[in-house]
Amino acid sequence: MSGLAHDLRTVARFSDRDDQITRLAWSPAHVEAMRWMVGEATALGLDAGIDAAGNVVARWGPATGPALAVGSHLDSVPDAGRLDGVLGVLAALAAVRRLQAQGFTPRRPVWVIAFMDEEGARFGTPLFGSRAFVGEDLEPSLAAVDADGVSIADAMRKAGFTPDRLGDACAIDRVGAYLELHIEQGPVLEKAGADIGVVRAISGGAVLAVGFTGHAGHAGTVPMDMRRDALVGGARAIVALRDAALGGGDLRITVGRIAAHPGGTNVIPGGCELSVDIRSADPDALDRGRDVVGRIVERIASEEGLQGSVRTLTEFAPLQLDETIIATVARAAAAESAVALDVVSGAGHDALVIGRAVPAGMIFVPSRNGISHHPEEATSADQCELGERVLARAIRALAGQDTNGGEIDERRDSGGQAGRAAFRPPAGSRVHRGAVGPGDGAAGAAG
Ligand code: GLV
Ligand code: MN
Ligand code: MN
Repeated sequence: MSGLAHDLRTVARFSDRDDQITRLAWSPAHVEAMRWMVGEATALGLDAGIDAAGNVVARWGPATGPALAVGSHLDSVPDAGRLDGVLGVLAALAAVRRLQAQGFTPRRPVWVIAFMDEEGARFGTPLFGSRAFVGEDLEPSLAAVDADGVSIADAMRKAGFTPDRLGDACAIDRVGAYLELHIEQGPVLEKAGADIGVVRAISGGAVLAVGFTGHAGHAGTVPMDMRRDALVGGARAIVALRDAALGGGDLRITVGRIAAHPGGTNVIPGGCELSVDIRSADPDALDRGRDVVGRIVERIASEEGLQGSVRTLTEFAPLQLDETIIATVARAAAAESAVALDVVSGAGHDALVIGRAVPAGMIFVPSRNGISHHPEEATSADQCELGERVLARAIRALAGQDTNGGEIDERRDSGGQAGRAAFRPPAGSRVHRGAVGPGDGAAGAAG
């Protein structure tokens, strides 16, 4: 078994539950996985630690210069598969191992990072660690609570972190570029017979909290035509939102969580909350999706005699990835004789945040039957390893040693933000279009 396959098995054992893989952000199992990673990276000779936002950062190579950050996340959704996020982190460690064995010495720092709470599955605040890393003020998010009423601040304290020090996690000024390997989480690569996805853009989205308030009452005494049942409003909204998103175009709407209050079997629900996740690579479609949610909530509230509310928990614009890194990834895939295909990510990733601050790229490997966020999530060991080899080649090129690859240019962008390094494309580089023509690699189902 390869080191990567072995590591995937090891991390799958870190779970909050015995009967499934569940590693929610800041949970004991998640923190255990983070500590395990620190140990592995240290054993490889990297300078590894955990920052104030819970990001594991392991540094390889020189101490100065704009770093090439490579990573993903170790937290999971409830009842998850083994690969989402984890593959990107473990493949980055495996790539370092491979490059060390090849005698490669990076000219730029290479940082392997596992970002905290990419999923947002616990608190509804995805990409928490990467947002802290780029210096976003996350103070307003600290009060967000999980299904048990535990706030992020409390969860951090319980895991031994200090919420007041979140600002210390900002380190983007020392990073020049970002690279992330991830499973596709959709069916496009498998359907096209491709081994590698060269990701050109990442869908944006929003997480909304929709609420309905009616009046609680006795399940046996209040006549059906005299009720203001908030859960009925929620149920109608779920169906209406699904139907609206079915209306065509690049728009996906998902209600993933529902709560009814007070939650007694013999009590008419007086309150109902829904999480609504909206995704699209098209900014106009995202705006349309938000309008649709607002109009549906208003109409149903009025028809059911309820009060409706819509609150934005998180929102992200879509992102085009960096052309030079796209070209580097395509060349790395070609050097491995991989069949590569240009794709758009339907899922969100830490690259969506980091890629707004520095040039970023992503590599996808196929997901069997397009399944993800599910225990059946799978990618063959060979495909995982091919992805890792492509990643290693891209790191080699981007970390500045290989004359074939792009180099991080130490001259700073004149108008760019401090710490943003410009990339100089390798001579003759061009974007590889893969087995299917450009545009055919449409977004798969959101991950
Ligand atoms: C992350 O998996 C997402 O929700 O896209
Ligand atoms: Mn992920
Ligand atoms: Mn995910």
